[in-house]
Amino acid sequence: MITTIVALSTVIATGVLLWWRHLDGVIYPGQEVDPLAGVPADLRTAALILTDLRHQRLMWSVVGLGSDGNWPSVLSADLIESGAVLDVQMVGGQKLSDWTNTETTDALAQYLGVPKVLVSQTSPGFLRVELRTFDTLAASVTAPGLAWTGVDLEAVAVGVREDGRTWLLRVLYAHILLAGATGSGKGSVLWSIINGIGPAIKAGVVDVWMADPKGGMEFGRGSRMWVRFEWTADGILAMLTEAVRLMDERSDRLRSAGVRKWYPSTDEPLILIVIDEAAALSSYANREQQEQFRQFTGLLLSKGRAVGVSVIAALQDPSKETMPNRQLFPVRVGLRLDEPTQTAMVHGQGAKDRGALCHEIPDTTPGVGYVGEDGTTEFVRVRAFWISDEQVDAIVDAFSPVPMAPAPPVDDDFDPATFDPDHIPGEDDEQGWAA
Ligand SMILES: Nc1ncnc2c1ncn2[C@@H]1O[C@H](COP(=O)(O)OP(=O)(O)OP(=O)(O)O)[C@@H](O)[C@H]1O
Ligand SMILES: [Mg+2]
Repeated sequence: MITTIVALSTVIATGVLLWWRHLDGVIYPGQEVDPLAGVPADLRTAALILTDLRHQRLMWSVVGLGSDGNWPSVLSADLIESGAVLDVQMVGGQKLSDWTNTETTDALAQYLGVPKVLVSQTSPGFLRVELRTFDTLAASVTAPGLAWTGVDLEAVAVGVREDGRTWLLRVLYAHILLAGATGSGKGSVLWSIINGIGPAIKAGVVDVWMADPKGGMEFGRGSRMWVRFEWTADGILAMLTEAVRLMDERSDRLRSAGVRKWYPSTDEPLILIVIDEAAALSSYANREQQEQFRQFTGLLLSKGRAVGVSVIAALQDPSKETMPNRQLFPVRVGLRLDEPTQTAMVHGQGAKDRGALCHEIPDTTPGVGYVGEDGTTEFVRVRAFWISDEQVDAIVDAFSPVPMAPAPPVDDDFDPATFDPDHIPGEDDEQGWAA
């Protein structure tokens, strides 16, 4: 027995030293070392199990992920803000779903004594196993003060990522699909975007065309900010028709001028079309209007990006009926959703196995979601800034575009024959110039 304990502790000490890379400081000969000194209390059980090969193998076999001669390999382990993360190589013959199904992740969490285990694939045969002891996104985050300069329309700050970095969202040369159940925080994502691009709206480099089919309730508060604001089916369709016309005209002009890349300017701003709830539109639009909606959004999504017509569509229900052409959105944000099938509708089949768990987001954390982008297979967990009604008012006050000065009235009685170039208006008035 004593031998076993000695052998075990040697394995643990060696393993832990290898495993917890964060152990630092100089160790003097004879000095007693607690090999788990650098390990937070809520990860100690996990550290003990994972650094003891025999215990680790017992766990793999009990949860059904390994058997004699066929053990998964823990390649590395690191402490992260939310707990710890392991790189694991699967055993030949295993399927991804063997690891990602909820029974297995739950069994691992219970065995390792951590609240949650999340598994996602990094490359074929290799996994990222996260032992989450702390949710870095549990607390809401308020938006920083109003920014006045330096808007990067390809990297707009709209919230925080779970690794503590700023969540940056591409608005220019992109379209964004934003899906989430009622109360999941779609409004806060949209207002965070508006807040982030505020100075560009004020400067006239971005024109926001807002469609609020829920009757203008949610975005009426900001009506001064929108260059176009529509909430009826007819109004929205007219707005989309206009956007398609403008897009085609821009494309033709740029093509004939040989322009390779378009940049927004005050002369030719980015047109940002925001549709808050497309399902509300389909619920009262007739068949013909729905067909037109499908056609116009399809055209804008397939041809608008390069010429500065971007679409952001927010939906409660991400089904094909509500938002056709979902695959044409290069950026997809899934907030809390009711069903795993809805997560798949937003992020694609297999998204759950790659870590997008929109259907597991609790309703206590509105604004939390998973972001997927074309060109990357990984998902990033984020939380949008929380924007209060008072902040909305401040954003609207600060960033509403300056209304164009009214054109001077035309003098219909002007007669070129009596025109005196030396006459200065107001010169003869008693009050002079300032009159
Ligand atoms: N990022 C956030 N952080 C903290 N709380 C938030 C956040 N976003 C939203 N909330 C809270 O959740 C509530 C619902 O949010 P919001 O209105 O944005 O949801 P929604 O998805 O637009 O809902 P609906 O589909 O009903 O329009 C808000 O009143 C707010 O109190
Ligand atoms: Mg809303």
